[in-house]
Amino acid sequence: MKADLYIKNAGQLVTSRGASAKPKTGAALGEIDVIPDGAVAAAGSTLIFVGTTAAAEQQVEVGEDTLVMDGRNQVVLPGLVDAHTHLVFGGSREHELDLKLQGVPYLDILAQGGGILSTVRATRAASLEELVEIGKKYGDQMLSQGTTTIEAKSGYGLCTADEIKQLRAIREINRHHPLDIVPTFLGAHAVPPEYKEDPDQFVELVINEMLPQVAREELAEFCDIFCEKGVFSADQSRRILRAAQDLGLKIKIHADEIAAIGGSQLAAELGAVSADHLLVTPEESIEKMAAAGVMACLLPATTFYLREDHFAPARKMIAGGVPVALASDFNPGSCPCHDLHLVMTIACLYLKMTPAEVINAVTINAAHAIGRAATVGSLEVGKKADIVLFDAPNYQYLPYRLGSNLVRTVIKNGKLVRG
Ligand code: NIG
Ligand code: FE
Repeated sequence: MKADLYIKNAGQLVTSRGASAKPKTGAALGEIDVIPDGAVAAAGSTLIFVGTTAAAEQQVEVGEDTLVMDGRNQVVLPGLVDAHTHLVFGGSREHELDLKLQGVPYLDILAQGGGILSTVRATRAASLEELVEIGKKYGDQMLSQGTTTIEAKSGYGLCTADEIKQLRAIREINRHHPLDIVPTFLGAHAVPPEYKEDPDQFVELVINEMLPQVAREELAEFCDIFCEKGVFSADQSRRILRAAQDLGLKIKIHADEIAAIGGSQLAAELGAVSADHLLVTPEESIEKMAAAGVMACLLPATTFYLREDHFAPARKMIAGGVPVALASDFNPGSCPCHDLHLVMTIACLYLKMTPAEVINAVTINAAHAIGRAATVGSLEVGKKADIVLFDAPNYQYLPYRLGSNLVRTVIKNGKLVRG
């Protein structure tokens, strides 16, 4: 078949093949296919060749209008997948930096009506069109860092109209921006001030009003919840997540971030696709998550930015057979960072994951965490032509080069979007 895009002579082509049906666990998480002098070709938005340049020269048909690129001295990876973001929100929270430096804890800022609730005020005040513009701007920045598919959550409306507005904004961005976006309803992200005296009433509102409308309009694939001390209890989380499953949504949980109140156990009990954060996850939960196949989606840039003194026990999870993904958690409060490259570096240094493990965790396993492993997360014939070229001599160089954007070229759905 004739190629519309042909990349050849890549220093290394690096991807995990054969893991689209099941996430990588245990020792397999550290295994990755490295093809020296690699080549990749696409017809339209689909990959038609992945292999060595020598083989490609025999097989890939190049025409006058084929875009041919030279990958010399570059590492080629599948487009990065960010499985946990809060992409769309009004305002920003740089004013919290001072409070942070004075030592005021994250949950105290929230309890005082700041934190998530200050972003809720700004998001409620923004129009749908403004939210779309804001989301596209961050989407552009993500693309330039090599991210081509993301998950994006609501959760800054906290009333039916504004949660729906946020999800509609996500749908608009998905339609009009090169990024592919998987939408998640996070109506239970915090208890809004209107329900401060009766949080259970808010849980009822989420179950009886928000979720049915989200499902009716098909605005989300996943439902998530912030299961945390002083936010939503495990019982409240169970009620909301079961109602979401009854409506056909898949589930995720912000679990065990600050206090272990049962979030990870609940994820295993309900068969959540992922449990996210997991800084203080107990050993029994690790066993239960492995048995239930719940993905641990770890967010080490958040841990770093919150200045926590302990990171998620990634090595124990990997040893225990839990599939592990890494994501940014991009949001205006606990992690104003969507740089998966930085996430890879922090994961190597503080989660003690190897370069091969972190690459799998931001590609194929991240794709599994959002139900997209059949189409993205690896360079394999038939998958989407989402490709990133890094200015690097080998893949280990990526987490090593702290804080530099080494991305030179980004291809999304077979189209050149950066470079
Ligand atoms: O995943 N933990 C709860 N939610 C977000 C933070 C949201 C915010 O601070 O605005 C998180 O870290
Ligand atoms: Fe989050």
